[in-house]
Amino acid sequence: MKRLGVNIDHVATLRNARGGLHPNPLFVAKEAMKFGADSITIHLREDRRHIKDNDLKKLSKAKIPLNLEIACNFKMMKIAIKNNPNFVCLVPEKRQEITTEGGLNLAKYYKKIELIIKKLNNKKIRTSLFINPTIKDIIYSKKINANCVEIHTGRLSDLIKKKKNYLTELNKIKKCAYFADSIGLEVHAGHGMDYKTTEILSKVNEIKEFNIGHFIIGEAVSIGLKRVIKKIKKNIKN
Ligand code: PXP
Repeated sequence: MKRLGVNIDHVATLRNARGGLHPNPLFVAKEAMKFGADSITIHLREDRRHIKDNDLKKLSKAKIPLNLEIACNFKMMKIAIKNNPNFVCLVPEKRQEITTEGGLNLAKYYKKIELIIKKLNNKKIRTSLFINPTIKDIIYSKKINANCVEIHTGRLSDLIKKKKNYLTELNKIKKCAYFADSIGLEVHAGHGMDYKTTEILSKVNEIKEFNIGHFIIGEAVSIGLKRVIKKIKKNIKN
């Protein structure tokens, strides 16, 4: 069975736009679980641009299967351990980027990432590394002792959306997923996915988990309008 992790970062983005409490990430997380999500993903960025420490605290206490994405440093690792999420995914972070633009540079930060993964594994937290689809990074991930790899699907998603030829990128992902699975790494996919991308990637047997955020929240805003407008119209009719 393939699992769906719903990333709720942009519920917090929307809430933060007005500095209030609505929409509430904890409420949305519970709703998502009620409607069939298998886990909830949040990225506690170092600049706290969407999810805040208090969101993490509340979500950890709510006993929802929680996948916490963090940058690769000891400060974020300590925050993760303190809150004890079920899963941690290490991701690269750049201050100026709009979203996580690519996978980790495992060659450059090997030692540091290895140590962080060791400490998280010791705490029995499922560990994952967000990587580009390359065999080299899968070999590194295995050596580092991560439990899972999350393959960055941003490029594939982009090509599909722009109606460009995506087969070379898809084959790269397939090859990597097959290889990672064969050496005992659980394979996840994340970034930029929508209806079409998930349809295509669902055929890759080795991918066990899909982590999707922006599109799901965007779609919820779009197709959820009907109920809200009906309710408000009823209220103002007096
Ligand atoms: N997986 C990881 C590791 C990510 O960093 C992100 C983006 O925060 C996602 C999945 C979700 O990407 P999107 O919001 O484009 O669906």
